[in-house]
Amino acid sequence: MNKFVLVTGGAGYIGSHTVIALQQQGYTPVIADDFRNANQIVLEGLRSILGNEPLLHRIDICEDQALTRLFDQYQFEGVIHFAAYKAVGESVEKPLDYYQNNLVGLINVLRHLSTHHVKNFVFSSSCTVYGEPKGEKEVSETTPKQLPESPYGYTKWMGEQIIADFHRSTPQHKLMNLRYFNPVGAHPSARIGEFPIGKPNNLLPFVTQTAIGKYPHLTIFGADYPTRDGSCIRDYIHVQDLAEAHVAALNFLINQEDGLLEAVNIGTGRGTSVLEIVAAFERVTGHSLPYIIGPRRQGDVIEIYANATKGEQLLGWKSRLNIEDALKDAWAWEQYLATL
Ligand code: WQD
Repeated sequence: MNKFVLVTGGAGYIGSHTVIALQQQGYTPVIADDFRNANQIVLEGLRSILGNEPLLHRIDICEDQALTRLFDQYQFEGVIHFAAYKAVGESVEKPLDYYQNNLVGLINVLRHLSTHHVKNFVFSSSCTVYGEPKGEKEVSETTPKQLPESPYGYTKWMGEQIIADFHRSTPQHKLMNLRYFNPVGAHPSARIGEFPIGKPNNLLPFVTQTAIGKYPHLTIFGADYPTRDGSCIRDYIHVQDLAEAHVAALNFLINQEDGLLEAVNIGTGRGTSVLEIVAAFERVTGHSLPYIIGPRRQGDVIEIYANATKGEQLLGWKSRLNIEDALKDAWAWEQYLATL
């Protein structure tokens, strides 16, 4: 008996790793992705890791009829919703694209939970809803949310509000917001990983693309912050741990009797600075990483990392891998891409 799980954006970075974790734990993932933010290489990687052809529907979840056909075709155990644009800088340039794609997509999926009686829903949220922590840099789920600094951040902040209002109107659904910290790394097979289209936005792809020679140096956006070494601090979580957290969240929801709405931080509970990432990369790979110190990037949070105890207590999940594992896997993935 198949336990179908809809994975919107399942050909993307975190989605593809979650597809693998789902199948490994006995679910049958069904990918809905229009590949606007994904690449064929990830599909080949999925085939080689899964050992079978993943169930894939090339649809835009903003197209209601396409989504209805999909929900008519399968009785889903649950939905894990990744499909969204996620580049902070790009969202400032194209706010309407971000609001339309990220919010209409979410609303369409939520509507279909009701019409097709799908109880379990996991939302890809982000630590960006916390903004810059006012006091303690370690944030828990009860840390007050702050107004975000970017349209991207607003789509996560508003997304959680939409889900909260949906829960109030239909309390029978079991809903979970997973607030990611900074996803990094790649699958240990080096056949899937982060595949930024065009110039990367996030730190790790810049690190590995600089090391492989695509850029002459990494630019560190500011080293004069009030932190232990002057550079910004984040909670970098291996994408493998992140994928497993989604399956743990789904298992938890399926086992609950009554409707609920929970938010859970998905981080390691440890902060790492940009300069520490550079040093760790060189240590782990033996590869030098030329860098310059540039001006601060507007909107950057100075320091934030997760209090990750709720994930352990509620979901029985905690991160297993560390930043060195992530850097090693990200580098292997970059080296694989260079062979294509
Ligand atoms: C990390 C640190 C930069 C690039 C964003 C989103 C978050 C999530 C992850 C989706 C910062 C510094 C970066 C570079 C640098 N998005 N940096 N040079 O901004 O913490 O979080 O991406 O899931 O929701 O907000 O991630 O990787 O862009 O930056 O010095 O070339 O690396 O200043 O301190 P960020 P990031």
